[in-house]
Amino acid sequence: MLLKRLLTILFMSGIVQQAFADQSITISSPDNNIQLGILHRTNGDIVYRVFYKGKKAIEPSGLGMKLKNPELSLLKFDLLAIDSSVTDETWKPVWGEVNSIRNNYKQIVLKLADRSGSGIQVQVIFRIFNDGVGFRYLFPAQTKLNHFIIADELTQIAVTGDHNAFWIPGDYDTNEYGYYNSSLSKIDASGGGFAQEIHAKTFFDNNAVQTPLMMKSADGLYINLHEAALLNYPAMNLVLDKSSFIFTSHLVPDAVGNKAYLQAPFATPWRTIIVSDKATEILASKLILNLNEPSKVADATAWVKPQKMVGVWWEMHVGKSSWDYSGGQVGSQQSTKVPHGATTANVKRYIDFAATHGIQGVLVEGWNTGWEDWFGQWKEDVFDFVTPYPDFNVKELQQYAASKGVKIIMHHETSGSATNYERWMDTAYRFMNRFGYDAVKTGYVGRIIPRGEHHDGQWMVRHYERVAAKTAQHHIMVDAHEPVRPTGLHRTYPNWLASEAARGNEFNAWSVGNMPDHEAILPFTRLMGGPMDYTPGIFKIKMNHYNADKKEQVHTTLTKQLALYVTMYSPLQMAADLPENYEARMDAFQFIKDVAVDWDDSRMLEAEPGDYVIISRKAKGSNNWFVGAITDENARNFSTSLSFLDTDKKYVATIYRDADNAHWKDNPEAYVIEKFLVDAKTILKLKLAPGGGSAVSLIPARAEEIKLIKKYK
Ligand code: NOJ
Ligand code: CA
Repeated sequence: MLLKRLLTILFMSGIVQQAFADQSITISSPDNNIQLGILHRTNGDIVYRVFYKGKKAIEPSGLGMKLKNPELSLLKFDLLAIDSSVTDETWKPVWGEVNSIRNNYKQIVLKLADRSGSGIQVQVIFRIFNDGVGFRYLFPAQTKLNHFIIADELTQIAVTGDHNAFWIPGDYDTNEYGYYNSSLSKIDASGGGFAQEIHAKTFFDNNAVQTPLMMKSADGLYINLHEAALLNYPAMNLVLDKSSFIFTSHLVPDAVGNKAYLQAPFATPWRTIIVSDKATEILASKLILNLNEPSKVADATAWVKPQKMVGVWWEMHVGKSSWDYSGGQVGSQQSTKVPHGATTANVKRYIDFAATHGIQGVLVEGWNTGWEDWFGQWKEDVFDFVTPYPDFNVKELQQYAASKGVKIIMHHETSGSATNYERWMDTAYRFMNRFGYDAVKTGYVGRIIPRGEHHDGQWMVRHYERVAAKTAQHHIMVDAHEPVRPTGLHRTYPNWLASEAARGNEFNAWSVGNMPDHEAILPFTRLMGGPMDYTPGIFKIKMNHYNADKKEQVHTTLTKQLALYVTMYSPLQMAADLPENYEARMDAFQFIKDVAVDWDDSRMLEAEPGDYVIISRKAKGSNNWFVGAITDENARNFSTSLSFLDTDKKYVATIYRDADNAHWKDNPEAYVIEKFLVDAKTILKLKLAPGGGSAVSLIPARAEEIKLIKKYK
């Protein structure tokens, strides 16, 4: 192979010069748009940098690892050898935004030895894709010591200047923050109005941010920093040095301050740098998925099912009913008592609604004992995950749901007591198997009990993986709330359908909420790592509907809530509002019924982080397309070509749009639904209200529809 020969020559010439000069290698992506430069300095430093179409994207950045056991910083290396290879393959995800994914990269492996004489050998593996670069450290089996305690990873990512950034504060326990948009030099993570309200918060440095971090440079490059395949290792925060614009990794510690305990051979997660001059290409990137291992769930296609759900859920968040049996109102900060939500009769009402409208799942929270003292109590044994409240009849509901062709979705709130959950897991999943449940929503509200581990530390990262693996054994799908931010592991565990791991729609029910640009930022940040259970579909936008004193509201229009089913990709989508709110607006609910949750194809049509996102997607195994368009607080107009449609077909476009006078704040529920005949030549004019959005379904037209429905113009 040419590349290999070239590198060998480069390397050999390097060897010759090693005593006198730095040695450098440059590798290009398969399409040559990205160049990775690696420099081995005579002083032993290894630095890398990245160019995109000849522009600097990443300045020379150092690599290294600080160990606690043995106490040593791995920063100066001898270069023992370089391996290289090229991969070009295509694989099919069990579910996803597209039905087939190309994995095409060049790989360079640097084989290094610690120069200080410890004898420790390390490899750095780089993969150069058309859309970015991934790299990881690999510790092969060592000749001396194989057990390491990591004090911190010393990875640098040096950006070229004071980029515009979309960031949330570095934190060991929660990612449920509103995003800040500022230049890098203005990052101040010390908190503020958008900080989370209910979760354990472990803030540690004013200059620290979480990943995925989205940036835009003054010269028009979009750069996304994150990680892939986070397994048996803590999550990475990035600490910015504002004088040099160098980010340095900061791993989440354990309860006693160590970062990771590792047994060689081991590899760290991949550090990912996705670069493009088009924002839409950041959204389309499959780099993170490609850096994850193929599915470990051999029979996943047989039982893992993308789906929609409703739930005995929003009614608790808006304060109509409670999780606990006595009606104590845990979530909504009200003093008056309300009825228990998860009663047999109420669950049947949701099952009926789901069955009538072709929705597969019904989530039920508050069905099991423990909710009287679950919150902020530091109690280890609150829930057992198998004991229902007396008014929730497990058997009767199993039969009722089965008779209606609907599945009840289990809820396992652990109240942060992950050790307790580990003890109950097997029993709880057997209980689910016995009573016909095939999906579980887990939750980790509060501090991790009992040791004060962190949600994003190594111990919990391993816990989430154990849950994914064990549920897979039981043929159970998972939706994890309050876990570490996703890093593409849904490729490896396709039963792990979705995670929360960001500030969901629920914040709009009981807090200052999510600002109108929130959903235009999430696809560029949190969603880069994997699907989110955002819980869209709220039709009753203002919470004073439930209680005249309430000031809270969803910060979008109603049709933006519809568009989110397309713009916020997830194979598990909730129709989160109450059945009665949908029944009052069946015309708009039709879009939620129609929209798919699994796709053959996705097109990122237009996007700008924090401003707008327009995506079209083709439903799996069908000719139906769905378009979602959302904007931030600004009204916007777009002309969107439907050229992605089959050229030989006519389609019925049903457009769900903001009424001309709609506005997220003053008039959020005003919408218009129109039907037109369109084809691949149509240019659709989308008019989005402030905080608004449009949703469009495009269904191949039947002969009589072609005659009856008027053409779009
Ligand atoms: C927080 C979750 O995000 C929410 O969906 C759930 O209802 C509560 N915890 C209770 O478990
Ligand atoms: Ca949450």
